Amino acid sequence: MTRTVTILGATGSVGRAAADVIASAPGRFSVQAVTARRDAGGLAAMAMSLNAQRAVLAEAERYQALKDALAGTGIEVAAGPEAVEQAAALPADITIAAIVGLAGLRPLMRAMEQGRTVAIANKEPLVAAGPLVLAAARRHNTTILPLDSEHNGVFQVFDKKGLERITLTASGGPFWGWSAKKMANATPEEALAHPKWRMGAKISVDSATMANKALEVMEAYHLFGLPAHKIDVLIHPQSVVHGMAEYADGSVLAHMGPNDMRTPIAHALAWPDRMPTPGRRLCLRDFTNLEFFPPDHARFPALQRGYEALAAGPAACVAFNAANEVAVGAFLAGRIPFSEIIRCIDRGLEAAPTGPVDTLDAIEALDATARKAVEETL
Ligand SMILES: NC(=O)c1ccc[n+]([C@@H]2O[C@H](COP(=O)([O-])OP(=O)(O)OC[C@H]3O[C@@H](n4cnc5c(N)ncnc54)[C@H](OP(=O)(O)O)[C@@H]3O)[C@@H](O)[C@H]2O)c1
Repeated sequence: MTRTVTILGATGSVGRAAADVIASAPGRFSVQAVTARRDAGGLAAMAMSLNAQRAVLAEAERYQALKDALAGTGIEVAAGPEAVEQAAALPADITIAAIVGLAGLRPLMRAMEQGRTVAIANKEPLVAAGPLVLAAARRHNTTILPLDSEHNGVFQVFDKKGLERITLTASGGPFWGWSAKKMANATPEEALAHPKWRMGAKISVDSATMANKALEVMEAYHLFGLPAHKIDVLIHPQSVVHGMAEYADGSVLAHMGPNDMRTPIAHALAWPDRMPTPGRRLCLRDFTNLEFFPPDHARFPALQRGYEALAAGPAACVAFNAANEVAVGAFLAGRIPFSEIIRCIDRGLEAAPTGPVDTLDAIEALDATARKAVEETL
């Protein structure tokens, strides 16, 4: 039976990978809506190639550009943040949540109202609003599937019976072999040159600081319902093993796969079945050794801050995410050096406002306060 799909953040790295998997299986999926922020040309081309029913941009002023690009195609066009939320709320069997940042929170919540399946790559809403997202899933009977490669890997080997811990692997990013001194003045180009994954700018910088792994620990905390001390991180430069689960009898089940997002995306799109991927395949003969190292918290302090934020509570997680989003934006814009990112995170955590995090408005208010506190010090 044909599955209806919506891709939120369709023009990004994950969105394009999802479109590739969908296009590789003609007749299997029917695309309800594709959304982006401002890339009218990219979104129009994708909407046409996937024969989507609706294309939506978050920036209202880009409406005409999208309308012109899709003239005569019959594809519905809309723009503005509310239009993205409306597109997310259209009934779809599965929604790929691949917007970057907390901007994806409201569309994700609207997608969950349908009570079907959401496949979440967009980790920031889980980090900042995990309890709210999980409560909505329970309320609407929505299935959440992890798309982040590590979490998707853990999901595939996960069983609560006798589970002792899970391990998320990290490639170490582009600076794993660098000294702290050299890293301090790394340029955006160097930070974006990830050795293993081709990804959007924000997550690439997060990988370079290892704030990405901190976000992933918080994401795993919510997705798998485990206390922080049962979520481990190992540096694994080959990026062959993505996630592991260790059980009481000593068994460690590891998920291996190519470093290609089309594998977790194909897994989620076909779940609980399987489908072929148009992406790369893993050939273990290409690897003479697989290495695993403990994280280096001295050179990459952001990971430890993630654990500290989890221990401090939900408001601190909102602050961690907000401060990091501001800092990464400032670094990419050339406003601050690489070494300043962790200081921004620290400032965000120090200024962490306290208060309830039980509504979208409350979370956005905490987020705005933390962003302002960090912005003021830049
Ligand atoms: N890339 C990966 O391999 C990977 C792996 C695991 C998890 N993730 C997570 O998946 C998410 C997406 O990552 P990515 O690398 O695909 O990012 P990306 O390449 O930067 O793409 C982001 C997408 O979100 C859209 N967008 C940006 N701001 C928006 C806003 N305010 N409102 C609505 N849409 C907006 C962008 O539209 P425009 O193109 O118009 O700007 C684009 O379609 C992130 O949370 C990331 O941590 C990514």
